[in-house]
Amino acid sequence: MLKSKDKWKVYKNVFSEFSMRTLFKLSTEEHFEELLEPIFIGKEANVFSASTREEDEVIVKIYRLENCNFNKMYEYIAADPRYLNVSKQRRQTVFSWVQREYKNLMIAREVIRVPTPITFKNNILVMEMIGGPAYMLKDAHPKAPEEFLKKIIENVKKLKAVGLVHGDLSHFNILNHNEEPVFIDFSQATLTKSPNAKELYYRDIENIRKFFYKLLDKKIVDKLLE
Ligand SMILES: Nc1ncnc2c1ncn2[C@@H]1O[C@H](COP(=O)(O)OP(=O)(O)OP(=O)(O)O)[C@@H](O)[C@H]1O
Ligand SMILES: [Mg+2]
Repeated sequence: MLKSKDKWKVYKNVFSEFSMRTLFKLSTEEHFEELLEPIFIGKEANVFSASTREEDEVIVKIYRLENCNFNKMYEYIAADPRYLNVSKQRRQTVFSWVQREYKNLMIAREVIRVPTPITFKNNILVMEMIGGPAYMLKDAHPKAPEEFLKKIIENVKKLKAVGLVHGDLSHFNILNHNEEPVFIDFSQATLTKSPNAKELYYRDIENIRKFFYKLLDKKIVDKLLE
């Protein structure tokens, strides 16, 4: 393995100099060895698998510092009581966004199955990879949809009990891991006491409702989501 910065040169045209430095720092701290492949190129972030010294791979989520929907990010995070005084400087906002996702995962993992967060720095979050095999619910429909929906509802209730609303729950952000739902992407999750928590909560429920209408009798879905 190349110990020097050289091995990061291949990413020169992919990431900014700043992200490269942060990736390098995280790898020297041995949170991962090297990036393996892109898993998802999203609107705000790019998600990669990465090797570690152990057998397990991890997920490295790299938020864009440019070309992100900064105004939306700011609006959402500034409504969270934990971030009332968040900086409006683009970089600082993105850093706080990443920190918040880490914190949210720490809270959520106490009550439901989520990827264990490993560390974060600047615009980069490292977490456990939900593997073997886990796909987005949109691509991996559950074998027993009613049972799966019940588990999703239980998760939503458990999050609420510890004061958290996911805020971006959908068939994109729920993985089907051996027929168990695993919630991911907690960057929008906020405290139940946030002024926008109710609106986000109902949006989450409506997303789930719409998706399960395709798999189950509407009456069953509505009854479970009452
Ligand atoms: N911990 C994980 N284990 C396995 N796969 C993951 C993990 N985290 C992310 N993924 C994969 O990458 C995709 C994108 O991840 P995620 O939803 O966190 O990012 P995003 O939607 O781009 O984020 P954002 O909405 O914050 O821009 C997921 O739908 C999933 O397929
Ligand atoms: Mg997502």
